[in-house]
Amino acid sequence: MNRGTAWVIGASSGLGLATAEALAADGWQVVSGARRFVAPSARDPAEPGIHTLPLDVTDPASRAAFTDAALAISPRVDALVYCAAVLVLGPCEHTTAGEYDRVMQTNFLGLVAMVNAALPRMRAQGHGRIILFSSINGLLGIPFQSAYTASKHAIEGYAECLAMEVKPFGVQVCLVEPGDHRGGSQHTRLHASCAQADNPYATPCQSALGVIHRDESSGLAPERLGQRVARNARRKRMRFRLRVAKVDQHLAVYLHKLLPARLNFHILTDYYHKGGRS
Ligand SMILES: NC(=O)c1ccc[n+]([C@@H]2O[C@H](COP(=O)([O-])OP(=O)(O)OC[C@H]3O[C@@H](n4cnc5c(N)ncnc54)[C@H](OP(=O)(O)O)[C@@H]3O)[C@@H](O)[C@H]2O)c1
Repeated sequence: MNRGTAWVIGASSGLGLATAEALAADGWQVVSGARRFVAPSARDPAEPGIHTLPLDVTDPASRAAFTDAALAISPRVDALVYCAAVLVLGPCEHTTAGEYDRVMQTNFLGLVAMVNAALPRMRAQGHGRIILFSSINGLLGIPFQSAYTASKHAIEGYAECLAMEVKPFGVQVCLVEPGDHRGGSQHTRLHASCAQADNPYATPCQSALGVIHRDESSGLAPERLGQRVARNARRKRMRFRLRVAKVDQHLAVYLHKLLPARLNFHILTDYYHKGGRS
């Protein structure tokens, strides 16, 4: 079955790659964008149904070249899936303006630009699906991930506005909110200064980094998330929020809504500062 053409942005690794593969397996013609496609030896570099194109979402010329090349492969854009993201870990006080800028350019402003590249086609077609990767961090903050958390909160607010505006044109929007998954972000992670021993945040920061690393390493399988996204993309009415997480992360979101902020901060700080043993 041919379900149409899906652009998958940030699909060279992790959840984006798993989503591109799941969509291709489900009958979509996938056009993938990322800066570097390196085929791990276990994977077939020429996946059937997946075209790979170079794309740096922070570079307007690269975005334009991607859009032209993708439209030459297929004049349709039935779905846009935006997964591209980078992560900076470190204390707010020591995360530089340049680091905040890089994270916002990749995670949020690149997303806005790619939505704007796809929307005219979708409006002309009278339908389209826009699937934006947020995170549990789009719903609550955890220590030492402020730049990433800010970018994901921005996506959450933006997606709500977008969904209401584009509905009359037959365009649907979905927010994917993954909890911890294996095999992601590690290689794009930039460490701020908390690795230095004389840093006043060094001890809690190192502890939080250890917990974050451990939770991701024991996280859910990316393939399962890819299949959940593909299943949602084929629904007549997509679910607006697709949260794919372990029970404890669902619970954290629930408690975040329910409990006073001070109590939430205590629980989360305790968890990350004590190495996740609370
Ligand atoms: N893994 C998790 O536990 C988890 C949890 C919650 C949310 N998420 C979200 O899921 C999505 C995928 O994350 P992941 O963990 O799978 O990370 P990942 O493996 O590091 O994938 C990030 C992707 O973004 C691309 N990218 C980064 N900068 C780019 C740029 N300037 N232009 C184009 N592409 C760029 C990377 O490709 P290149 O480097 O080749 O450009 C890569 O394909 C992200 O939105 C992330 O926030 C992940």
